Amino acid sequence: MKPLIAGNWKMNGLASSIAEIHALIDEFSGAAPDDRDVVICPPATLVATFAAEFSDEAIQIGGQDCHPAQSGAHTGDISAEMLADAGAAFVIVGHSERRADHGETDATVRAKADAALRAGLTPIICVGETEEQRKAGQALAVVGAQLAGSLPETADPFVVAYEPVWAIGTGLTPTTDDIAEMHDFIRAKTPAGMRILYGGSVKPANAAEILAIDNVDGALVGGASLKAADFHPIVMAAPGER
Ligand code: PGA
Repeated sequence: MKPLIAGNWKMNGLASSIAEIHALIDEFSGAAPDDRDVVICPPATLVATFAAEFSDEAIQIGGQDCHPAQSGAHTGDISAEMLADAGAAFVIVGHSERRADHGETDATVRAKADAALRAGLTPIICVGETEEQRKAGQALAVVGAQLAGSLPETADPFVVAYEPVWAIGTGLTPTTDDIAEMHDFIRAKTPAGMRILYGGSVKPANAAEILAIDNVDGALVGGASLKAADFHPIVMAAPGER
């Protein structure tokens, strides 16, 4: 499988931030290597400009969320069709910050993933346990329930991102054994051929170790995706297609 390294910029980035992607392309000496997929998910305000600017550079653009409906009376929301129209190829759905801040349920997340597929986007569907749930020995059960409730029933490609909530933005990561156990578990519960990313405090210093784990097919990177100097070594740390 071809590794996928996706940057989630969250609510960060202005028009001037395009300079970081130019810097990333300079690091790649012109274009991202073709043995790995590189995706940047900027805030919605930047999707169209980034997608237009980097259409030839093998850097793909994604949204961070979409509404389940195609259009309608949903002030402030953006549909998957709008993201596709703006040039996006991917969209993150069910990130733990959206599940927590916006009360998104597994059913909502599945409806958003279905919307992404309807619009021709590849959804990156996030799952992950809280610290309390891991401490209580419930990590596999929690993620199993999220997968059962959030994954679309489709033969089209989608991506699963395992992001333990307690590892996001904290500098903490699970042990390699815990990541391996969870990714094996997710693999067994996901249709063949789907990529499974790890996310949560991926940095240049730990990327190679994490990306070498069996059934880790890439990474979803938050803070370290904002600077080309951090994101480039993470992208290059992924083993080639395997
Ligand atoms: P982080 O965020 O890399 O800053 O921990 C990951 C994410 O939330 O996708």
